[in-house]
Amino acid sequence: MIGNALVAPQANTYELIDAKPFAPNLGAEVYGVDLSQPVPDAQFAEIRDAFLKYQVLFFKDQKEIPPEQHVAFGKRFGPLHAHPAAPTMAGHPEIFEIHATKDSKIANGEFWHSDVSCDDTPPLGTMLQIHIVPPCGGDTMFSDMYAAYDDLSDPMKNMLADLKALHSSEHIYKGRYSDRGKADADIDCPQAVHPIVRTHPDTGRKSLFVNRTFTTKILGLSDRESDTILNMLFEHAEHINYQIRFRWTLNDMAFWDNRCCMHRAIWDYWPAERKGRRVTVKGDKPV
Ligand code: SIN
Repeated sequence: MIGNALVAPQANTYELIDAKPFAPNLGAEVYGVDLSQPVPDAQFAEIRDAFLKYQVLFFKDQKEIPPEQHVAFGKRFGPLHAHPAAPTMAGHPEIFEIHATKDSKIANGEFWHSDVSCDDTPPLGTMLQIHIVPPCGGDTMFSDMYAAYDDLSDPMKNMLADLKALHSSEHIYKGRYSDRGKADADIDCPQAVHPIVRTHPDTGRKSLFVNRTFTTKILGLSDRESDTILNMLFEHAEHINYQIRFRWTLNDMAFWDNRCCMHRAIWDYWPAERKGRRVTVKGDKPV
């Protein structure tokens, strides 16, 4: 068994959406919402509440969401975030197209991360709808960073309380999208320093905010100390008990909270194709 952080799943407590817990730790499938249309305010309020409660929502039984509607839904949570390097959809610069084919050199998000944590103000949340689903595989995994923090021992929590870490991106973004027609040799690759333990601005809960894609160094420690502690934290945060694994069906839309969960996309479906559209909402500076 892990953690004092886990709570038993509860039955749907909403009136205008049907939120079914996906696992005891995080995630909910949401039924009864049509994201291809503007969402009424009262239903939106319940979606927002469920997002904060479950950390990642999987909207089921969806039609393909028109790009304008996807962008409009994202903007209801705040201004949108522009990705520093990724290819965008023609005519829709706010939409990042996720696409892997038999010719791809990489697939997006293959290692655990919180989206663009290298930004000074990393994204609050990301909403991804998948339009081409491989015949099998192509799942996305999510890990609960509240539970990962809650399960640390008190001495470890005390040690991490005032530590900050560097999140870098040059090693990730340079040349990454060259096979998708993005000439990015001279892009500006952001880097930022964030607390290792952040407090969620809406829930007030603490979560672990390091990930093996972007977090490269703990400030003030020797390289050996930093590498050792970061590796311990990465392994801890990636423990199977904090994870869920979502299998997509056509037009499912996932909306995850980058402030309190990490994710990882599994590229096990080559040479099959997988394609989707992603809109990302801007977040606060982590504190
Ligand atoms: C990502 O946004 O990191 C990719 C997620 C996915 O393709 O499932």
